[in-house]
Amino acid sequence: MSSSSASFSYDRQALSRFLYDLYDYEPKLLRRLISARPYVCPFDHLERHIPSDAKVLDVGCGNGALLAILLASERIRQGVGCDVNGDALASATKAAERTGRGERVTFRQIGGFEELPDDRFDVVTMVDVLHHVPEADRAQAVAQALRRVGPNGLFLFKDMVEKPFLRRLAHNLDDLLFSGEWVRQVKTAALEREVEAAGFRLLKSEDIPRVFYGNTLRVFQRL
Ligand SMILES: C[S@@+](CC[C@H](N)C(=O)[O-])C[C@H]1O[C@@H](n2cnc3c(N)ncnc32)[C@H](O)[C@@H]1O
Repeated sequence: MSSSSASFSYDRQALSRFLYDLYDYEPKLLRRLISARPYVCPFDHLERHIPSDAKVLDVGCGNGALLAILLASERIRQGVGCDVNGDALASATKAAERTGRGERVTFRQIGGFEELPDDRFDVVTMVDVLHHVPEADRAQAVAQALRRVGPNGLFLFKDMVEKPFLRRLAHNLDDLLFSGEWVRQVKTAALEREVEAAGFRLLKSEDIPRVFYGNTLRVFQRL
């Protein structure tokens, strides 16, 4: 499954095909859902903010699709993925190995965000995780992620939009179907204030519509 960075494409269709082939050990429905993700989640936008040779921490990495993409494209020198879900991490480990560069990443099961590795990273990513965290715990979750960002490092935050109503509803229905939760979207303006107050500046702010859904991407840099 290994590929050279020169031949790697971040085009949505190519990413979808890559993930479909990579996760061939998963049951068919899950494999199809993983391979559909690039059409909904803007991995192509996230990738643009990850410098070459970066050391990356993916908070709430799930089945490790982002790290697998970054490994296969030879973008990162080192990665750590953390999640509460042990089954997802087992799948992430297998996917990373199948890129041929599994030795560059480790996966760790955590019981809470305070258990994130006590290390500093060039980039810390949090992709579609915070809306699953109870509202009262969100500020602390973000604070723990920010503590792992090294000097001049980046915090890449991706979640789902609060509006327009129909895109928000699409997200709610999706999570109701797939995770059994009626989630409450992240209040992005409040999040921006929290991250800036922690000593970061907002470098990029994008709302990215995909199919019925709306993504919010925020890129912060430690000052
Ligand atoms: C929608 S999935 C996103 C997975 C991955 N980031 C992606 O974009 O493909 C949300 C993930 O957040 C994880 N999660 C939820 N609460 C968490 C917590 N307190 N600590 C770590 N991970 C958590 C879930 O287990 C799940 O894997």
